Amino acid sequence: MLEIDRLSKRFSGLVAVDDVSMRVSEGSITGLIGPNGAGKTTLFAMTSGFLPVDAGNVRFEGATVTSMPPHDRTRLGMVRTFQIVQPFAGLSVRENIAVGAYLRTPDRVDALAEAETVGNRLGLGPMLDLAASSLTVAGRKRLELARALATRPRLLLLDEVLAGLNPTEIRDILPVIRSIRDDGVTIFMIEHIMQAVMNLCETVYVLNEGKLIAEGAPAIVCSERPVIEAYLGQGAAARLQAEGGQPHA
Ligand SMILES: Nc1ncnc2c1ncn2[C@@H]1O[C@H](COP(=O)(O)OP(=O)(O)O)[C@@H](O)[C@H]1O
Ligand SMILES: [Mg+2]
Repeated sequence: MLEIDRLSKRFSGLVAVDDVSMRVSEGSITGLIGPNGAGKTTLFAMTSGFLPVDAGNVRFEGATVTSMPPHDRTRLGMVRTFQIVQPFAGLSVRENIAVGAYLRTPDRVDALAEAETVGNRLGLGPMLDLAASSLTVAGRKRLELARALATRPRLLLLDEVLAGLNPTEIRDILPVIRSIRDDGVTIFMIEHIMQAVMNLCETVYVLNEGKLIAEGAPAIVCSERPVIEAYLGQGAAARLQAEGGQPHA
């Protein structure tokens, strides 16, 4: 469904993404992991059209979209969430979600109805009429997901949607992510929390210093020496062992 072909991006002296290729197959939950500064967000920004590529191509459902603006990609069915969630503070939760729905309908009533449906689905029902600025971090993450879903995507790019959540909040949102996929939305997710990756992803790609260093089933990839070494400075090897995460059916 998504083909990332030899993408590169340089910021002055720094090669943030270096000749990286990845595939996301339809119906999958595919992970993208790697230490801070590995180039994950930069790769997503190029994939979704927020940042021009220096080299390489992005294909979505067979169409080359490398130079297409983000909103046109979203119209085709590819949408991303942002690592730093910034809702429109002056708008209600319902209106924030409707911002996504307006991509599919110019009608305010339709957009607000869609927002309500999606909001309920993501557990935001009781908060729909509150100001978005009153949401907790976990609420904002759900809002960000809802706004993306309201565009009716076929491919959802999630940038650390679990970051900043406590273990209970993570446990609560994992089934939500899985159910989105079960409803036919392919998911490509950047995630730091190994347990979540192990739980959700069938395939995972690992970036380090801009380069793809491993790919495959999470349990196998995370036991590979280059991957453990890439994380060692951040203590991820120990974390992995402590979590003892196992893939779930
Ligand atoms: N707009 C930018 N200008 C200059 N350097 C950037 C920019 N965006 C990211 N970088 C650098 O590129 C590298 C990769 O960043 P990023 O893609 O955000 O990594 P990750 O999401 O894996 O933590 C980092 O060294 C970061 O400082
Ligand atoms: Mg990032």
